[in-house]
Amino acid sequence: MEKTLTICYKEFGSVAELEPADRELMERAVEATRSAYAPYSHFGVGAALRLADGSVVCGSNQENAAYPSGLCAERTAVFAASSQRPELRDYAALAVAGRDAEGELCEASPCGACRQVLLEYERLQGHPLRVLCLLGGGRVREVASVEDLLPFGFDM
Ligand code: THU
Repeated sequence: MEKTLTICYKEFGSVAELEPADRELMERAVEATRSAYAPYSHFGVGAALRLADGSVVCGSNQENAAYPSGLCAERTAVFAASSQRPELRDYAALAVAGRDAEGELCEASPCGACRQVLLEYERLQGHPLRVLCLLGGGRVREVASVEDLLPFGFDM
């Protein structure tokens, strides 16, 4: 039997069009691109995670001369939140932004490994974690759930 999967998402023309809390979250992600340690790719990524109590934990990509030892911004943020606030492993939204080698803001979308990690926390908390990605031209894409980014994700 053939089945079809449909993914719904929203697109905003600019960060200014977001709800105030999401706008602040995206601004925090943009700010976090500045703390990227990316001497190899010269591509900075910033991530800002909003916890259930409204607080925000940020992360940026951290590279290493032994390339696979580095870590993406999204996992840096969510692992920081989960380890520093284990009692509040409940996440409302994640914003992600990129900064290219010229220092210009650009699109950044979570890689497959980050999607798998985010999916586990989403399933653990039992309600959706929204993901906002900065796109080219300052637009923003929002998916309502990590499931939308990684259908059929792995679980045990
Ligand atoms: N990167 C992230 O931080 N998040 C992603 O989801 C994709 C890629 C980082 C990893 C590396 O430091 C740089 O971007 C270039 O791949």
